[in-house]
Amino acid sequence: MDTEIKSKRGGWGSNFGFLMASIGSAVGLGNIWGFPYKMGKSGGAVFLLLYLVLVVLVGVTVMLGELALGRRSGKSGVSTYRALSKKYTWLGYAGVLCGFCIMCFYFVLGGIVLRYAVGYFLSLFGGSTFAWSGQGTDFFGYFLTDTKSMILFFVLYILLNIIVVSGGVHGGIEKFCNVGMPALFCLLVFIILYIACQPGAAEGYKFMFSPDFSVFSDPNVGFGRVLKNAAGQMFFSLSIGLGVMITYGSYLGKQEHLQRNAFIVCGADTLIAVMAGMAVMPACSAFGVEYGAGPGLLFASMQTVFSHMGSVGNLIGFLFYLLVLIAALTSSISMLELCTAYAVDKQIEKGLTPKRAKH
Ligand code: PFF
Repeated sequence: MDTEIKSKRGGWGSNFGFLMASIGSAVGLGNIWGFPYKMGKSGGAVFLLLYLVLVVLVGVTVMLGELALGRRSGKSGVSTYRALSKKYTWLGYAGVLCGFCIMCFYFVLGGIVLRYAVGYFLSLFGGSTFAWSGQGTDFFGYFLTDTKSMILFFVLYILLNIIVVSGGVHGGIEKFCNVGMPALFCLLVFIILYIACQPGAAEGYKFMFSPDFSVFSDPNVGFGRVLKNAAGQMFFSLSIGLGVMITYGSYLGKQEHLQRNAFIVCGADTLIAVMAGMAVMPACSAFGVEYGAGPGLLFASMQTVFSHMGSVGNLIGFLFYLLVLIAALTSSISMLELCTAYAVDKQIEKGLTPKRAKH
Protein backbone atom coordinates (compact mmCIF):
# COMPACT_ATOMS: atom_id res chain seq x y z
CA MET A 1 0.00 0.00 0.00
CA ASP A 2 2.77 2.38 1.02
CA THR A 3 4.79 1.75 -2.14
CA GLU A 4 1.63 2.14 -4.23
CA ILE A 5 0.99 5.59 -2.69
CA LYS A 6 4.65 6.48 -3.12
CA SER A 7 4.54 5.55 -6.77
CA LYS A 8 1.52 7.83 -7.24
CA ARG A 9 3.03 10.79 -5.36
CA GLY A 10 6.65 10.60 -6.55
CA GLY A 11 9.72 11.39 -4.43
CA TRP A 12 13.22 12.91 -4.38
CA GLY A 13 15.86 11.23 -6.50
CA SER A 14 18.60 11.94 -3.94
CA ASN A 15 19.25 13.60 -0.58
CA PHE A 16 21.17 16.33 -2.43
CA GLY A 17 18.05 17.02 -4.51
CA PHE A 18 15.95 17.26 -1.35
CA LEU A 19 18.49 19.67 0.16
CA MET A 20 18.59 21.89 -2.92
CA ALA A 21 14.77 22.02 -3.08
CA SER A 22 14.40 22.74 0.66
CA ILE A 23 17.16 25.34 0.71
CA GLY A 24 15.55 26.74 -2.44
CA SER A 25 12.24 27.07 -0.63
CA ALA A 26 13.90 28.75 2.33
CA VAL A 27 16.12 31.07 0.29
CA GLY A 28 13.84 33.58 -1.35
CA LEU A 29 12.91 37.23 -1.44
CA GLY A 30 12.88 37.01 2.36
CA ASN A 31 16.66 36.55 2.30
CA ILE A 32 17.65 38.88 -0.47
CA TRP A 33 15.19 41.66 0.13
CA GLY A 34 13.50 41.14 3.53
CA PHE A 35 16.60 40.32 5.54
CA PRO A 36 18.76 43.31 4.53
CA TYR A 37 15.87 45.74 4.78
CA LYS A 38 14.63 44.49 8.16
CA MET A 39 18.21 44.58 9.36
CA GLY A 40 18.41 48.14 8.07
CA LYS A 41 15.31 49.08 10.09
CA SER A 42 16.23 47.14 13.23
CA GLY A 43 19.69 48.21 14.23
CA GLY A 44 21.94 46.12 11.95
CA ALA A 45 24.10 43.69 13.92
CA VAL A 46 21.74 43.59 16.93
CA PHE A 47 19.05 42.18 14.67
CA LEU A 48 21.53 39.66 13.24
CA LEU A 49 22.46 38.45 16.74
CA LEU A 50 18.85 37.93 17.82
CA TYR A 51 18.05 36.28 14.51
CA LEU A 52 20.87 33.75 14.94
CA VAL A 53 19.76 32.89 18.48
CA LEU A 54 16.18 32.34 17.26
CA VAL A 55 17.26 30.13 14.35
CA VAL A 56 19.28 27.90 16.67
CA LEU A 57 16.71 27.72 19.48
CA VAL A 58 13.44 27.68 17.53
CA GLY A 59 14.05 27.36 13.77
CA VAL A 60 16.03 24.12 13.74
CA THR A 61 13.56 22.44 16.12
CA VAL A 62 10.46 23.38 14.13
CA MET A 63 12.18 22.45 10.86
CA LEU A 64 13.12 19.04 12.24
CA GLY A 65 9.59 18.55 13.59
CA GLU A 66 8.01 19.32 10.21
CA LEU A 67 10.39 17.10 8.25
CA ALA A 68 9.89 14.24 10.71
CA LEU A 69 6.09 14.55 10.60
CA GLY A 70 6.10 14.57 6.80
CA ARG A 71 8.43 11.64 6.42
CA ARG A 72 6.52 9.59 8.97
CA SER A 73 3.11 10.18 7.40
CA GLY A 74 4.26 10.21 3.77
CA LYS A 75 1.59 12.81 3.10
CA SER A 76 1.16 16.56 2.69
CA GLY A 77 0.30 19.02 5.50
CA VAL A 78 -3.49 18.57 5.72
CA SER A 79 -3.41 14.74 5.68
CA THR A 80 -0.50 14.69 8.11
CA TYR A 81 -2.31 16.85 10.68
CA ARG A 82 -5.47 14.80 10.16
CA ALA A 83 -3.50 11.60 10.77
CA LEU A 84 -2.26 13.07 14.08
CA SER A 85 -5.79 13.88 15.22
CA LYS A 86 -8.95 15.11 13.49
CA LYS A 87 -8.94 18.14 15.75
CA TYR A 88 -5.68 19.36 14.17
CA THR A 89 -6.88 19.13 10.55
CA TRP A 90 -7.67 22.84 10.49
CA LEU A 91 -3.98 23.56 11.07
CA GLY A 92 -3.21 21.85 7.78
CA TYR A 93 -5.91 23.86 5.98
CA ALA A 94 -4.68 27.10 7.58
CA GLY A 95 -1.18 26.30 6.26
CA VAL A 96 -2.43 25.72 2.71
CA LEU A 97 -4.51 28.91 2.81
CA CYS A 98 -1.62 31.03 4.13
CA GLY A 99 0.78 29.38 1.66
CA PHE A 100 -1.62 30.22 -1.15
CA CYS A 101 -1.84 33.88 -0.05
CA ILE A 102 1.96 34.23 0.25
CA MET A 103 2.26 32.55 -3.15
CA CYS A 104 -0.02 35.18 -4.74
CA PHE A 105 2.11 37.94 -3.18
CA TYR A 106 5.18 36.16 -4.51
CA PHE A 107 3.71 35.89 -8.02
CA VAL A 108 3.33 39.67 -8.20
CA LEU A 109 6.86 40.35 -6.93
CA GLY A 110 8.24 37.51 -9.07
CA GLY A 111 6.68 39.10 -12.16
CA ILE A 112 8.39 42.40 -11.33
CA VAL A 113 11.73 40.65 -10.76
CA LEU A 114 11.35 38.84 -14.09
CA ARG A 115 10.74 42.15 -15.81
CA TYR A 116 13.84 43.67 -14.22
CA ALA A 117 15.98 40.66 -15.21
CA VAL A 118 14.72 40.76 -18.80
CA GLY A 119 15.11 44.56 -18.87
CA TYR A 120 18.73 44.45 -17.73
CA PHE A 121 19.44 41.57 -20.09
CA LEU A 122 18.11 43.51 -23.09
CA SER A 123 19.96 46.62 -22.02
CA LEU A 124 23.20 44.65 -22.44
CA PHE A 125 22.58 44.83 -26.18
CA GLY A 126 20.83 48.14 -26.42
CA GLY A 127 23.17 50.79 -25.00
CA SER A 128 23.74 51.93 -21.48
CA THR A 129 20.23 52.86 -20.32
CA PHE A 130 17.83 50.49 -18.63
CA ALA A 131 15.67 48.98 -21.39
CA TRP A 132 12.11 50.25 -21.77
CA SER A 133 12.46 52.74 -19.01
CA GLY A 134 12.87 56.04 -20.80
CA GLN A 135 11.47 57.30 -17.51
CA GLY A 136 14.60 58.46 -15.74
CA THR A 137 15.41 56.53 -12.59
CA ASP A 138 11.83 56.04 -11.40
CA PHE A 139 11.38 52.86 -13.37
CA PHE A 140 9.58 51.19 -10.47
CA GLY A 141 6.94 53.90 -10.27
CA TYR A 142 6.53 53.79 -14.04
CA PHE A 143 6.25 50.00 -14.13
CA LEU A 144 3.59 49.96 -11.41
CA THR A 145 1.33 52.05 -13.62
CA ASP A 146 2.09 50.06 -16.78
CA THR A 147 -0.76 47.56 -16.35
CA LYS A 148 -0.25 45.62 -19.59
CA SER A 149 3.35 44.70 -19.05
CA MET A 150 2.71 44.11 -15.34
CA ILE A 151 0.08 41.49 -16.28
CA LEU A 152 2.27 40.00 -19.02
CA PHE A 153 5.20 39.38 -16.66
CA PHE A 154 2.90 38.23 -13.88
CA VAL A 155 1.43 35.57 -16.21
CA LEU A 156 4.87 34.56 -17.52
CA TYR A 157 6.12 34.11 -13.98
CA ILE A 158 3.12 31.97 -13.02
CA LEU A 159 3.65 29.84 -16.14
CA LEU A 160 7.27 29.19 -15.13
CA ASN A 161 6.02 27.94 -11.76
CA ILE A 162 3.39 25.69 -13.31
CA ILE A 163 5.89 24.19 -15.78
CA VAL A 164 8.32 23.27 -12.99
CA VAL A 165 5.73 21.85 -10.57
CA SER A 166 3.85 19.88 -13.23
CA GLY A 167 7.16 18.17 -14.07
CA GLY A 168 6.84 16.32 -10.75
CA VAL A 169 8.86 16.25 -7.53
CA HIS A 170 11.96 14.69 -9.07
CA GLY A 171 11.59 15.61 -12.75
CA GLY A 172 10.50 19.20 -12.14
CA ILE A 173 11.28 20.70 -8.72
CA GLU A 174 14.43 18.72 -7.92
CA LYS A 175 15.99 19.13 -11.37
CA PHE A 176 15.30 22.87 -11.40
CA CYS A 177 16.72 23.41 -7.90
CA ASN A 178 19.77 21.20 -8.55
CA VAL A 179 20.85 23.68 -11.21
CA GLY A 180 19.33 26.88 -9.83
CA MET A 181 20.69 26.81 -6.28
CA PRO A 182 24.39 26.30 -7.11
CA ALA A 183 24.01 28.99 -9.82
CA LEU A 184 22.46 31.36 -7.27
CA PHE A 185 25.33 30.75 -4.87
CA CYS A 186 27.98 31.46 -7.53
CA LEU A 187 26.21 34.64 -8.66
CA LEU A 188 25.96 35.85 -5.08
CA VAL A 189 29.67 35.24 -4.41
CA PHE A 190 30.57 37.12 -7.60
CA ILE A 191 28.38 40.11 -6.69
CA ILE A 192 29.71 40.22 -3.10
CA LEU A 193 33.30 40.28 -4.41
CA TYR A 194 32.50 42.97 -6.96
CA ILE A 195 30.74 45.19 -4.39
CA ALA A 196 33.58 44.65 -1.89
CA CYS A 197 35.95 46.37 -4.32
CA GLN A 198 33.85 49.56 -4.44
CA PRO A 199 35.03 52.54 -2.35
CA GLY A 200 32.71 53.15 0.62
CA ALA A 201 31.64 49.49 0.95
CA ALA A 202 33.28 49.19 4.40
CA GLU A 203 30.53 51.33 5.99
CA GLY A 204 27.98 48.68 5.03
CA TYR A 205 29.95 45.87 6.71
CA LYS A 206 30.38 48.00 9.80
CA PHE A 207 26.64 48.52 9.98
CA MET A 208 26.04 44.77 9.58
CA PHE A 209 28.63 43.41 11.96
CA SER A 210 29.17 45.92 14.78
CA PRO A 211 26.18 45.78 17.15
CA ASP A 212 24.68 49.06 18.26
CA PHE A 213 22.76 48.21 21.45
CA SER A 214 21.47 51.76 21.75
CA VAL A 215 18.58 50.76 19.42
CA PHE A 216 17.05 48.96 22.43
CA SER A 217 16.55 52.28 24.17
CA ASP A 218 15.47 54.09 21.01
CA PRO A 219 11.69 54.76 21.36
CA ASN A 220 11.24 54.19 17.61
CA VAL A 221 12.85 50.74 17.68
CA GLY A 222 13.25 49.10 21.11
CA PHE A 223 13.96 45.48 22.07
CA GLY A 224 10.38 44.29 21.48
CA ARG A 225 10.30 45.51 17.91
CA VAL A 226 13.71 44.06 17.03
CA LEU A 227 12.66 40.70 18.54
CA LYS A 228 9.33 40.75 16.69
CA ASN A 229 11.03 41.55 13.36
CA ALA A 230 13.68 38.87 13.89
CA ALA A 231 11.12 36.19 14.89
CA GLY A 232 8.77 36.95 11.99
CA GLN A 233 11.70 36.95 9.60
CA MET A 234 12.94 33.62 10.99
CA PHE A 235 9.61 31.79 10.41
CA PHE A 236 9.15 33.31 6.97
CA SER A 237 12.70 32.78 5.85
CA LEU A 238 12.89 29.13 6.90
CA SER A 239 9.49 28.41 5.24
CA ILE A 240 8.24 26.82 8.46
CA GLY A 241 4.76 26.76 9.96
CA LEU A 242 2.77 26.27 6.75
CA GLY A 243 3.41 22.63 5.90
CA VAL A 244 5.88 23.14 3.04
CA MET A 245 8.57 21.29 4.98
CA ILE A 246 6.06 18.57 5.95
CA THR A 247 5.33 18.14 2.25
CA TYR A 248 9.00 18.13 1.22
CA GLY A 249 9.78 15.74 4.09
CA SER A 250 7.05 13.37 2.85
CA TYR A 251 9.05 12.74 -0.34
CA LEU A 252 12.20 11.86 1.60
CA GLY A 253 13.52 8.28 1.88
CA LYS A 254 13.52 6.54 5.29
CA GLN A 255 17.31 6.09 5.21
CA GLU A 256 18.10 9.84 5.13
CA HIS A 257 19.41 11.62 8.23
CA LEU A 258 16.75 14.11 9.36
CA GLN A 259 18.68 16.02 12.03
CA ARG A 260 21.61 16.64 9.72
CA ASN A 261 19.26 17.76 6.94
CA ALA A 262 17.43 20.18 9.26
CA PHE A 263 20.74 21.74 10.35
CA ILE A 264 21.99 22.04 6.78
CA VAL A 265 18.78 23.73 5.53
CA CYS A 266 18.69 26.23 8.44
CA GLY A 267 22.44 26.87 8.19
CA ALA A 268 22.40 27.42 4.43
CA ASP A 269 19.38 29.72 4.63
CA THR A 270 21.04 31.84 7.30
CA LEU A 271 24.34 31.89 5.43
CA ILE A 272 22.67 33.13 2.26
CA ALA A 273 20.68 35.77 4.17
CA VAL A 274 23.93 37.11 5.65
CA MET A 275 25.64 36.90 2.25
CA ALA A 276 22.75 38.80 0.64
CA GLY A 277 23.22 41.45 3.33
CA MET A 278 26.91 41.52 2.41
CA ALA A 279 25.94 42.31 -1.17
CA VAL A 280 23.15 44.81 -0.52
CA MET A 281 24.36 46.80 2.53
CA PRO A 282 27.84 47.69 1.21
CA ALA A 283 26.28 48.48 -2.19
CA CYS A 284 23.95 50.95 -0.43
CA SER A 285 26.76 52.52 1.59
CA ALA A 286 29.09 52.73 -1.44
CA PHE A 287 26.49 54.51 -3.56
CA GLY A 288 24.82 56.59 -0.87
CA VAL A 289 21.48 54.77 -0.75
CA GLU A 290 19.39 54.28 2.42
CA TYR A 291 19.54 50.78 4.03
CA GLY A 292 16.01 50.37 5.39
CA ALA A 293 14.09 51.49 2.30
CA GLY A 294 11.45 48.70 2.33
CA PRO A 295 10.18 47.37 -1.00
CA GLY A 296 12.02 50.18 -2.73
CA LEU A 297 15.34 48.63 -1.64
CA LEU A 298 15.10 45.85 -4.21
CA PHE A 299 13.32 47.69 -6.96
CA ALA A 300 14.47 51.31 -6.70
CA SER A 301 17.57 51.62 -4.48
CA MET A 302 19.41 48.73 -6.12
CA GLN A 303 18.57 50.14 -9.51
CA THR A 304 20.11 53.46 -8.47
CA VAL A 305 23.19 51.53 -7.33
CA PHE A 306 23.57 49.85 -10.73
CA SER A 307 23.01 53.08 -12.63
CA HIS A 308 25.90 54.64 -10.65
CA MET A 309 28.27 51.85 -11.68
CA GLY A 310 28.61 53.07 -15.26
CA SER A 311 28.60 50.69 -18.20
CA VAL A 312 29.28 47.57 -16.12
CA GLY A 313 26.14 48.35 -14.07
CA ASN A 314 23.87 46.71 -16.64
CA LEU A 315 25.75 43.42 -16.43
CA ILE A 316 25.91 43.45 -12.62
CA GLY A 317 22.23 44.44 -12.56
CA PHE A 318 21.31 41.55 -14.84
CA LEU A 319 23.26 39.04 -12.72
CA PHE A 320 21.71 40.45 -9.54
CA TYR A 321 18.12 40.20 -10.81
CA LEU A 322 18.80 36.74 -12.28
CA LEU A 323 19.89 35.68 -8.80
CA VAL A 324 16.76 37.21 -7.25
CA LEU A 325 14.63 35.50 -9.90
CA ILE A 326 16.07 32.06 -9.10
CA ALA A 327 15.55 32.68 -5.38
CA ALA A 328 11.94 33.77 -5.95
CA LEU A 329 11.14 30.85 -8.25
CA THR A 330 12.51 28.13 -5.97
CA SER A 331 10.37 29.57 -3.13
CA SER A 332 7.14 30.08 -5.03
CA ILE A 333 7.31 26.59 -6.54
CA SER A 334 7.48 25.21 -2.99
CA MET A 335 4.24 27.04 -2.14
CA LEU A 336 2.63 25.81 -5.35
CA GLU A 337 3.80 22.33 -4.39
CA LEU A 338 2.14 22.73 -0.97
CA CYS A 339 -1.21 23.33 -2.72
CA THR A 340 -0.58 20.71 -5.43
CA ALA A 341 0.36 18.01 -2.91
CA TYR A 342 -2.91 18.67 -1.08
CA ALA A 343 -4.85 18.08 -4.33
CA VAL A 344 -2.73 15.02 -5.22
CA ASP A 345 -3.32 13.43 -1.81
CA LYS A 346 -7.03 14.09 -2.09
CA GLN A 347 -7.15 12.27 -5.40
CA ILE A 348 -5.21 9.34 -4.00
CA GLU A 349 -7.59 9.15 -1.02
CA LYS A 350 -10.44 8.87 -3.51
CA GLY A 351 -8.67 5.97 -5.19
CA LEU A 352 -7.74 7.98 -8.31
CA THR A 353 -4.33 8.27 -9.96
CA PRO A 354 -3.12 11.90 -10.07
CA LYS A 355 -2.21 13.18 -13.53
CA ARG A 356 0.95 14.96 -12.45
CA ALA A 357 4.29 13.45 -13.54
CA LYS A 358 5.56 11.01 -10.89
CA HIS A 359 9.28 11.11 -11.59
N1 PFF B 1 11.26 31.34 2.70
C1 PFF B 1 10.84 32.19 1.64
C2 PFF B 1 11.64 33.48 1.69
O1 PFF B 1 12.50 33.65 2.55
O2 PFF B 1 11.41 34.34 0.85
C3 PFF B 1 9.37 32.50 1.66
C4 PFF B 1 8.47 31.34 1.93
C5 PFF B 1 8.51 30.19 1.11
C6 PFF B 1 7.62 31.40 3.00
C7 PFF B 1 7.67 29.12 1.38
C8 PFF B 1 6.79 30.35 3.28
C9 PFF B 1 6.82 29.24 2.48
F1 PFF B 1 6.01 28.22 2.74
